[in-house]
Order: sequence, then structure tokens, then C-alpha cells
Amino acid sequence: MSDPSMTDIYALMRPRKVCVCRSVTENMILDSLERGARSFEDVQNETGCSTGCGTCESAVRAIIEKKLSPT
Ligand code: FES
Repeated sequence: MSDPSMTDIYALMRPRKVCVCRSVTENMILDSLERGARSFEDVQNETGCSTGCGTCESAVRAIIEKKLSPT
């Protein structure tokens, strides 16, 4: 039986998948923006996110909007 506190730590260390269908993490979306993507479609083309069931679209758009909006 594993120690529940270690399980929690491993869960925190694991990158959060924004798009489960295509295994795209938030960092992959941010990297895409760093490389020059400027729209949802750019990120979608580069990472493949939101090309499956589509339920992640609003989460992907929120990450893009937050990153690209002026502070
Ligand atoms: S979770 Fe992203 S396309 Fe299904």
C-alpha cells in the first residue's frame, strides 16, 4: 500500500493535462505561445489540442487569453 501523502506529491508534480484527448499540458500551450502562436487556431495547429472531443476548448482559450492579454 502506498503512502497517501506521497501519492499527493506525485499528483502535484505531474503536469496538468488541459486536453486529455491529445495529452496536451498547460506548459505545452504556453510554450506554443512563446514560440509565436497568437490564436486558438495557432495553438491548436501546433499542439493538436482541442482536435478530439472539444470539451477543453474553453480551458485552452482561457490560458491563451490570460497569457496574451496585457497586464
Ligand atoms: S479534451 Fe481536448 S479534445 Fe478532448
